[in-house]
Parts: sequence; C-alpha cells; structure tokens
Amino acid sequence: MPARDGVALGLLVASILWLVPRPTHGGGGACELSVRHSDVLYNYSLASPTDKFPHGVLSEDGFYKVTVNETSLWFQLCDQMIFNHDPPRCYDCQDCGGPSRCGTMCNALVANSVGGYFVCTTIGRASNLNVALIDQNSPQKGVVVKTSSIGPKVNCSLSVSVFCDSNEAQVSDTFNITGNCDYAVVLRHPSGCAKVIYVNGKGWGWFGTLMMIILCLLVGYVLVGTIYRFFFLGIQGIEAIPNLEFWLSLPYKASSMLRGLVRRFSRDSRGSYAPVNY
Ligand SMILES: *[C@@H]1O[C@H](CO)[C@@H](O)[C@H](O)[C@H]1NC(C)=O
Ligand SMILES: *[C@@H]1O[C@H](CO)[C@@H](O)[C@H](O)[C@H]1NC(C)=O
Ligand SMILES: *[C@@H]1O[C@H](CO)[C@@H](O)[C@H](O)[C@H]1NC(C)=O
Ligand SMILES: *[C@@H]1O[C@H](CO)[C@@H](O)[C@H](O)[C@H]1NC(C)=O
Repeated sequence: MPARDGVALGLLVASILWLVPRPTHGGGGACELSVRHSDVLYNYSLASPTDKFPHGVLSEDGFYKVTVNETSLWFQLCDQMIFNHDPPRCYDCQDCGGPSRCGTMCNALVANSVGGYFVCTTIGRASNLNVALIDQNSPQKGVVVKTSSIGPKVNCSLSVSVFCDSNEAQVSDTFNITGNCDYAVVLRHPSGCAKVIYVNGKGWGWFGTLMMIILCLLVGYVLVGTIYRFFFLGIQGIEAIPNLEFWLSLPYKASSMLRGLVRRFSRDSRGSYAPVNY
C-alpha cells in the first residue's frame, strides 16, 4: 500500500495547492500603473521607495524646478509641493496657498514675469492625476504623469514624461508649452522603470485541467468498483466501496504528514536536520 499512499498524498497536496487563492491583477494606487502585454505584466509604482530614492520619483527637496527665460515652473509628482527653501514669490498666489504659503496647495505652478512682477498660474492639482504609458508599443520606456487644473479663464496642464533610466535621476533643463496653457517636461528617473513580471496565465489552467481529469478518474474508479463489488461479488452496505480502509485512513495520514512537514521545516530553520518518520 505505501506506493499508493504516496500517490494519494501527492494528489491531496496538489489539490490543496490548487485551491490556494492565486494573485489577481488590477487596481493600483494614485501613482501606479499596471499594464499587461500578453504574458508580461509591467508594474510602475512611482512613489515606492527604492534603495537610492526613499521617496521614489518624488523630489526630496519637496519640488522640482525648471526655469526658461523669465518663466519658472515648479512641480512635484504624486503629491503636493513643500517648500523648505526657495519658495515661489508671486504677486498673486490665490489658488495655490496665497502669498505667504505660495506653492503649497497645488502640485504644479508656473510663474511668468509681467512688468517686473511674477504672476503665478496653477497648472496642476494632485486630485487630477493621470498616469499612462509614454509609448503603447514599448511599455518599458516609461510613463507620462499628467496633472491638470481647471481655471476661471483657462484650463492648464502639466505632462511629465518619466523616462526609465536606471543610472540617474535628472529633470530636463527646459520645458515645452503647447496650446494655451499646457506644459510638458521630461524627467529621467529609475522609478520610471517598470517591474517586469512574467505571468504564465496558462500554467495554472492546464494544471487545473489535469487535476480535474485525475479527480474524475478517481471518482469513476470508486463508482465502478462499488458497482462491481455490490452486484458481482455481492458485498453489501458500505463495505462495497473499494479500498474503504484506505479512504478512511486518508485524513489521519494527511494530518500526520503535515505535522511531519512542519516539524522538518522548523528543524531546518534552526539549521540542524534530522530525518522524520511519517
Ligand atoms: C503589480 O500591480 C498589481 C496592480 O497594481 C498588483 O496587484 C501586484 O501586486 C503588482 N505586482 C508586483 C509584483 O508588484
Ligand atoms: C525662451 O526664449 C527663446 C528666445 O526668445 C524662445 O525661442 C523660447 O521659445 C523661449 N522658451 C520658452 C519656454 O518660453
Ligand atoms: C475647462 O474644463 C472644463 C471641464 O473640462 C470645461 O467645462 C471648461 O469649458 C473648460 N474651460 C476652458 C476655458 O476651456
Ligand atoms: C519639446 O518638444 C520637442 C519637439 O516636439 C521634443 O523633441 C522635446 O523632447 C520636448 N521637450 C520636452 C521637455 O518635453
């Protein structure tokens, strides 16, 4: 009986594994993006800490700043800006913190020099955030984080293209303006690199099918065996089920095997090893 026991216990373990919930995909936080291309999952998690960047793609200063000509652009990714030094000085900063706390109530701000004064315009709010791939055809290239702001006179936006660069974190020294108030800037950052996960969707599928077939064969065997023993051998009652003792002993065998496994693993984790009797 030992060989058959082994097979049966193997089946039992396999079915338990099959019943364990498998990870599902979807959802994601504000600065996350998960894209699946056939059997590959590209996970972007911009705000997650890494060894070199404990704040992920977020600037440790509390803001990124790009100045071209007389125009300055401040922004932070995935969060509002914080200024411990060098805050924007704007004539009017009404919709982003007011003159005393200018820049702290939005996540992208532009200051234009108008006759010696700096006039600020909010171009992005943390509540309006959208993350998309830079290039649908090469999902590893990076993502575009777009933030926008609805103003009384004009609607503005800022698109930050976060290109995957495993070596350095650098914001470009220039930006583009398109339309009335749509800004674009480029950032190279290790957090712009996707985590590539190979998902073998079909793997569990064929395993499940195999388990199903084996289960059906098992049930068929018991059924046919019972009918045969009942009608042809004339065995009455519950005794008609073939290998009854074995089936009844299964729960005990499974539990003793599990106990053995637990014992073995706890021993292994202590660094010593001793053979286990089942
Ligand atoms: C990938 O992203 C999905 C959805 O955001 C998440 O459920 C999953 O845990 C991520 N996988 C890894 C390995 O980070
Ligand atoms: C800066 O000034 C140069 C020259 O006047 C102009 O070509 C360029 O478009 C300006 N850039 C921005 C972002 O305003
Ligand atoms: C700004 O956007 C809002 C909502 O998308 C729209 O209703 C409004 O007309 C836009 N305003 C301007 C000035 O384009
Ligand atoms: C500005 O636009 C040019 C031409 O479309 C592009 O090559 C460049 O990468 C853009 N720069 C930024 C900072 O978006």
